[in-house]
Amino acid sequence: MPAKIPVQIRPMTLEDVPALARFIAETPLWQRYRVSEEGARRTLERGLSRGEGLYVAVVDGQVAGFIWFLVQGAFAHSGYIRLIGVLPAFSGQGIGARLMAAAEAVIRREAHSVFLLTSDFNEAAQAFYRRLGYQQVGAIPDYILPGVAELIFYKRLW
Ligand SMILES: CC(C)(COP(=O)(O)OP(=O)(O)OC[C@H]1O[C@@H](n2cnc3c(N)ncnc32)[C@H](O)[C@@H]1OP(=O)(O)O)[C@@H](O)C(=O)NCCC(=O)NCCS
Repeated sequence: MPAKIPVQIRPMTLEDVPALARFIAETPLWQRYRVSEEGARRTLERGLSRGEGLYVAVVDGQVAGFIWFLVQGAFAHSGYIRLIGVLPAFSGQGIGARLMAAAEAVIRREAHSVFLLTSDFNEAAQAFYRRLGYQQVGAIPDYILPGVAELIFYKRLW
């Protein structure tokens, strides 16, 4: 799915982390999970130091979003999309779809499918994933937050 504006996808660097940590801490979804700016910064830096899949989308020289994925992150057979976020100013322009396509392209080399989790209340994200060909295959009640189920979404790549 092509983005509707020119987007460059490149690996995340340490220099990208402070602004992304601020974005994460300001996002209502992650506020509900009590993610602090400092916590987000440490978590992203840890992912980078482990060489995990961390990409950013750049529009006009500005970081517009990011994705974090693990090539063999689920059940030893499948990739796992850990986090994705597009800054509100850039949403609805195909950037999230581009980030997902970039992650799937890497995962596809080694795994035939991808899993991800999304909150039961995050209907926008559920619609986004369904649009990209993911289907819900399960739910884990109270997995991270009491009273919230994490929905398990799955997509076969080949
Ligand atoms: C979910 C998110 C990553 C989507 O990114 P985005 O760049 O706005 O999405 P895109 O523009 O690439 O959308 C791709 C497709 O999904 C659809 N889609 C996206 N958001 C949607 C929504 N709220 N409702 C219905 N469809 C939606 C789009 O219509 C588009 O399909 P189209 O090409 O037919 O129009 C972004 O809104 C976000 O960062 N949300 C906050 C954080 C979050 O919820 N992350 C996911 C946690 S599990």
